[in-house]
Amino acid sequence: MRFPEPHELPPEQYTWLRQARTEYAAAALCSELLHWLHLLGVSPDTLQRCTRLVSDEVSHSLLSHELYQLAGGEPRAVPTPPQLLTHADDPDASTVWRCVTAAAELAIEESVALPVFAARLDNAGPEDVRERIAQIHRDEAFHRAFAWDLVDELTEALGVDAMRAWITPRLPFWFRIYLRPRSLDHEPTYTDQQLAYGLIDRRQHWQLMQACARDVVFARFVQRGLVEDGVTADVVAAEVARRAQDAAAHPTPATG
Ligand SMILES: [Fe+2]
Ligand SMILES: [Fe+2]
Repeated sequence: MRFPEPHELPPEQYTWLRQARTEYAAAALCSELLHWLHLLGVSPDTLQRCTRLVSDEVSHSLLSHELYQLAGGEPRAVPTPPQLLTHADDPDASTVWRCVTAAAELAIEESVALPVFAARLDNAGPEDVRERIAQIHRDEAFHRAFAWDLVDELTEALGVDAMRAWITPRLPFWFRIYLRPRSLDHEPTYTDQQLAYGLIDRRQHWQLMQACARDVVFARFVQRGLVEDGVTADVVAAEVARRAQDAAAHPTPATG
């Protein structure tokens, strides 16, 4: 069984089928984080909130699959490769620092999800589409708050200097999707009927994510003292662009 290619489904179906996979993967990553938090013995409140995140993400996967079907998709399994179901970053670090990486990445992802789902809700037409997107949007606000509270709890435990030293060099990698240069000239446009299934104009989508990454997420790291002096969003964006150019000049050979 394989996951379909984008051209094999109409965009309103492909978007929600892929979202079903993304949400399922988010549940798996959150449950791994939850286990690490148990090992560290963080506060019971943190454990209970993280438990809710795992459960929410499973629900979001189901809701996304329902949205795929509301858009005309046939019921089908959502194959998810194992590499999407486990944290890959900083594999050799101790549990506590793997938690810091996971918490920071969660803070970025959940923050960016919020304006994106607000825009999906704005576009959504039919009531059964609206109510499912509204549910996901409501939950993502809780997830964003949890992620930043977890960053704060870890900062209190580890100290702001150690956190800053860990976080600053990783920012270009964590922001690699949201701060990379992107040409939007050849992006497809959607009909009103497609937008009513909760799609977003591709240019608007990109602008929302980029603005949130710069103005909300990066600013929150700075406010907390977690970014070294002189490292601005522009500096990180320039490093992201440099790495992207480097990767284009020296592509990794395909394997298997
Ligand atoms: Fe979600
Ligand atoms: Fe979430």
